[in-house]
Amino acid sequence: MTIVTPSEAVSTGASVTFPPTFLWGSATAAYQVEGGFDSAGRAPSIWDTFSKTPGKVHAGETGDVACDHYHRFREDVALMKRLNLKVYRFSVSWSRVMPDGVNVNPEGLRFYTELVDELLAAGIVPWLTQYHWDLPQVLEDAGGWANRETAYAFEKYAVVLHDALGDRVRQWTTLNEPWCSAFLGYANGHHAPGRTEPSAALAAAHHLLLGHGLAVRSLRERDPELELGLTLNFTDYRPADPNLPGDVDAARRLDGSFNRFFADPIFRGTYPQDVLDDQAGLWPEDLVRAGDLDVISTPIDVLGVNFYTGELLTGADPAEAPQAAAAARAQGEPNPNVGSEHVSSVPRGLPQTAMGWEVYPQALRDLLLRLHTDYTAEAGVALYVTENGAAYDDVVESDGSIQDTERTDYIRQHLHAVHEAMESGADVRGYFVWSLLDNFEWAFGYAKRFGIVRVDYESLERTLKASAHWYAGVARTGVVD
Ligand code: FCB
Repeated sequence: MTIVTPSEAVSTGASVTFPPTFLWGSATAAYQVEGGFDSAGRAPSIWDTFSKTPGKVHAGETGDVACDHYHRFREDVALMKRLNLKVYRFSVSWSRVMPDGVNVNPEGLRFYTELVDELLAAGIVPWLTQYHWDLPQVLEDAGGWANRETAYAFEKYAVVLHDALGDRVRQWTTLNEPWCSAFLGYANGHHAPGRTEPSAALAAAHHLLLGHGLAVRSLRERDPELELGLTLNFTDYRPADPNLPGDVDAARRLDGSFNRFFADPIFRGTYPQDVLDDQAGLWPEDLVRAGDLDVISTPIDVLGVNFYTGELLTGADPAEAPQAAAAARAQGEPNPNVGSEHVSSVPRGLPQTAMGWEVYPQALRDLLLRLHTDYTAEAGVALYVTENGAAYDDVVESDGSIQDTERTDYIRQHLHAVHEAMESGADVRGYFVWSLLDNFEWAFGYAKRFGIVRVDYESLERTLKASAHWYAGVARTGVVD
């Protein structure tokens, strides 16, 4: 279902109070914050290779040092405690833990053991993501996610992590945003490993989902009480002109290939038929084997929702769309929207963040309600907003403070949206601001700052921005003004 009706703005007039059980947190990802790129036996991941390939990342920047969280995690946990955070969502670097993709590196595991212990000692729940885009390079050399074997390697890695940390970590997320891993990594090549092969992207997407399902099944067998799930990214797509069939079709298409492509197999055990039709001829033969969708739809407990923006779309008349997509695929730049390459977005004229993403908070409310109605309520699955936040060009004032009013406003409006969704029945249990720290923003390097805490990349000093002070109050009281 595509939402075509214009949506009512979020009401931010009066303050709202979240339930005392609501989990307030922040999120980061291994390659974006850790650094320590060659410490204690860590081998390169696809992001090490990609960032060191000229022309791939802004200003040739890499995650070699990043925020040096690998060495400063105790300081960072202390910061979280100071901010009253109840939960920390972090990811594990697979190539730190299994540098050759097969054998376990105890020294690499030790970092996560210490991090988890430090969090628990501070009274902060560790929320572990197994995969946030940094495949060991050695596995990419064997075909990466386009190779079915990678799904089985992922299952083994998930079990290794559970063996080491399962006694202390109870919240497990298999994948972060498989759309990005598959379609930015293998279709338009803007992310590692930088491949531009539409069919390989579809194979990667399927194998990521398969790896997720295999890992959930294995972990569930070993430990039925774990809270298991995955994090998907969702964008609110609507037709630029709801009266134009081409625009309505464009919104259906990207809603399909971006949102439903992942949610449908997880919750319904099928790929959406309209998306399969749009992508006809591009799916590799025999990609989906008997039983795969049963594995992929193994029940989960939690759906993580990453949300940043919405887009208005325009496209070709439905009768001409398949030819338009094929022509754009053949002649245009590599495109992540496999099967719908002709679709383009139309600015809404709303304020934008430094990423050029339009600020459209009501879409988060609509999305949470839609997920609740279409997928999660029936499955008894809880929703968590596992990422939401904004990059702005911060200014350090002469007194050293950072008055990032726009970021605070962004988070505030989105929290009101979450609250409205909860009032209408969506079972949302927590919110993680992206991000705790300014960090390596993938192809944008260090140019885009998402943190509520500023990182000076020369001294690596951390400074709380005004948004961090504000968020600490929210986390302490549950009240959003
Ligand atoms: C999400 C990623 C996260 C960060 C934010 C801005 O897509 O999961 O690592 O880059 O966007």
